[in-house]
Amino acid sequence: MIKAVDWQEGVLWIIDQTLLPHRVERRALTDYRGVAEAIRSMRVRGAPAIGVAAAFGVVLGAREILEKGEDFPQKFEEVLSTLAKTRPTAVNLFWALDRMRRVYEQSEHRTPKEMLRALEATAVRMLEEDIQANRAMGQYGQQLLQDGWTVLTHCNTGSLATVSYGTALGVIRAAREAGKEIKVIADETRPRLQGARLTAWECLEEGIPCTVIADGAAASLMRQGRIQAAIVGADRIARNGDVANKIGTYMVALACQAHQIPFYVAAPLSTVDLSLASGEEIPIEERPPEEITHIEGVRIAPEGVKVYNPAFDVTPAELVTAIITERGIAYPPYEKSLPSLFEQANKRFDRVPW
Ligand code: MRU
Repeated sequence: MIKAVDWQEGVLWIIDQTLLPHRVERRALTDYRGVAEAIRSMRVRGAPAIGVAAAFGVVLGAREILEKGEDFPQKFEEVLSTLAKTRPTAVNLFWALDRMRRVYEQSEHRTPKEMLRALEATAVRMLEEDIQANRAMGQYGQQLLQDGWTVLTHCNTGSLATVSYGTALGVIRAAREAGKEIKVIADETRPRLQGARLTAWECLEEGIPCTVIADGAAASLMRQGRIQAAIVGADRIARNGDVANKIGTYMVALACQAHQIPFYVAAPLSTVDLSLASGEEIPIEERPPEEITHIEGVRIAPEGVKVYNPAFDVTPAELVTAIITERGIAYPPYEKSLPSLFEQANKRFDRVPW
């Protein structure tokens, strides 16, 4: 199985997703600035993968501060804020940084070596938990998919967007592992083409039948009865169940409603932000105009034209049939079902040895 993020002997390895599908190149990241650059430029992307990569960025930053003998508290804040400024929408990034900060606070009075060990152990745990969460989501979510269905996906939600296995694509994977003949229709996902470049590549690598369509084709295929469900991931889910995900997701959800097709969201609880009452409060990243005016470096829009390039949109909760998490499936009303999944979860403490 593809591993988008890996940690080996003090080095963070990622697959450089800007080069796919033309080249599969692993990149070694050895300092936190490199991790921040990789997140910002989307060499590593997808909410869960961003969170885990950032956690290792903290480990690399802490190691550097200790090696250089710099003032730890001040420099550590710099590391956290450099990583926090990379991408604003995926809450997994802030969730991971908060978790690392708590481990540091518990370790403040320990030796530098012990603190570094505790930070590294926590990041490794996050990496392992991500795979477990994806597999659990797969088990819950696959029960919603029927044998023979064709399922629409948007963006990339597979191994590449996580540590491995995937969220929404993980559910499809799990259904196929359970013996169901599920086919994928992948929206190309303009402007960064995560569907055409990444989902299609992953599906081909792993033998999942996949057809890429232009984003604008989805509704028409639904009308023709060629899609039985849509399943997407999320970058942040508010307390009321509003879902921020890749731009274009809202249109998919509207088309599903119009054709009475279920619209499922698969995301770990680390993507759920109970501190936000609704999707209106979710910060939406705006990316450079060149992502719209150019394709693979070739200009396609006239010079001087105005561009607006929000990277995400918010799908209102009333369009979401169910939210699949690693703790079970949440149904409306989400104000009740989402918090109750958190209550069931054991309160997580990153136990350090003291
Ligand atoms: O801009 P990206 O490629 O990082 O956006 C990714 C998505 O929108 C995914 O759907 C989301 O992060 C969930 S991935 C498991």
